[in-house]
Amino acid sequence: MIKQVIIFGGSGFLGKYIVKHLADLGYIVKIFSRNQEKAKRLKLCGHPGQIVVVGGYILDESVISKHIKGCDVVINLIGILNESKTQKFYTVHVDIAEKIAIVAKTNNVSLMIHFSAMEVEGNCSSKYAQSKLLGENAVASAFPEAIIIRPSLVFGEEDNFFNKFAKLASILPFLPLINNGRMKLQPVYVDDLAKFVCYVIKLKNHNQKLYHIGGPKVYPIKSLFKFIITITNRKCLLVNIPLPIAKFIAFICEFKLISILLKPITGNVEPLITRDQIKFLCNGSGFEQSHELEKAKIRATPIESIVPKYLKIYKKV
Ligand SMILES: NC(=O)c1ccc[n+]([C@@H]2O[C@H](COP(=O)([O-])OP(=O)(O)OC[C@H]3O[C@@H](n4cnc5c(N)ncnc54)[C@H](OP(=O)(O)O)[C@@H]3O)[C@@H](O)[C@H]2O)c1
Repeated sequence: MIKQVIIFGGSGFLGKYIVKHLADLGYIVKIFSRNQEKAKRLKLCGHPGQIVVVGGYILDESVISKHIKGCDVVINLIGILNESKTQKFYTVHVDIAEKIAIVAKTNNVSLMIHFSAMEVEGNCSSKYAQSKLLGENAVASAFPEAIIIRPSLVFGEEDNFFNKFAKLASILPFLPLINNGRMKLQPVYVDDLAKFVCYVIKLKNHNQKLYHIGGPKVYPIKSLFKFIITITNRKCLLVNIPLPIAKFIAFICEFKLISILLKPITGNVEPLITRDQIKFLCNGSGFEQSHELEKAKIRATPIESIVPKYLKIYKKV
């Protein structure tokens, strides 16, 4: 029987790839988005009628219930990197996630997949990390069989990391390092992560409830910056910024006006860096490499084979 999957936050970076893979496998996919116009372009990933876009007020259980009814799988991708006046970490990562899990349980959904992030455990000074962890717990108590996925940094053509720092390296004479760029990341290719979600959906046995997902190699942020500088052929220095100065710069960057002024660099009106992100970067709790893609027989794509293709636009010739 054809399965129906609903993806909350399905119009974002990961969502687009997951929708495409699920459509290729023949699933009926519902995308829940606040911006239905933006999400509509994803209908092209499937045949007519296979991909449906829905929306509504996410904190209203009757709205969630209406859309979840009849779905076999629920995927929650809703998340933010920064707080704003209208978007708070707790509401987005805990309240919304919990509501979706409660409604999914009441509607006898057979599988819920919830997206969290790597390095949230033990990172108790960052509000982002705290809220992600609380969100996981709220989902697990409302829907005990839920699968939690904690990806490391996700890369791909529209990513927010390689693109942003390549752009910065093309403008500034240096790239700023916080905590000497020691924090470790295991970048995972967005398409591999989407394949992994399909693998989890198809598993017969869902005993494992928590997956840390990373790519083939672990890198300190400093090496990733060197990689960006090399492939874009820039002569940028790497400069360690003392923590109090980094926090002050982040404080300035948190002003909306500054974000608007920096839009030509960041590509959006999100702050370049926030004090909470600095806390997250400085308080990682010791990194353990993930091998889940290997176990799922998905060949993990290295950054070296994909990132240079989309950073070409920043390359100095
Ligand atoms: N990208 C990464 O490197 C990375 C790494 C680790 C974990 N993750 C996690 O993976 C998930 C997906 O990440 P992503 O990169 O695809 O993020 P994204 O592109 O920012 O997409 C997130 C989606 O969340 C939805 N959203 C945000 N606030 C909302 C709200 N108040 N109500 C309803 N929907 C809201 C947005 O949907 P609409 O605007 O369409 O409504 C958006 O499309 C997130 O939970 C993220 O924390 C991502």
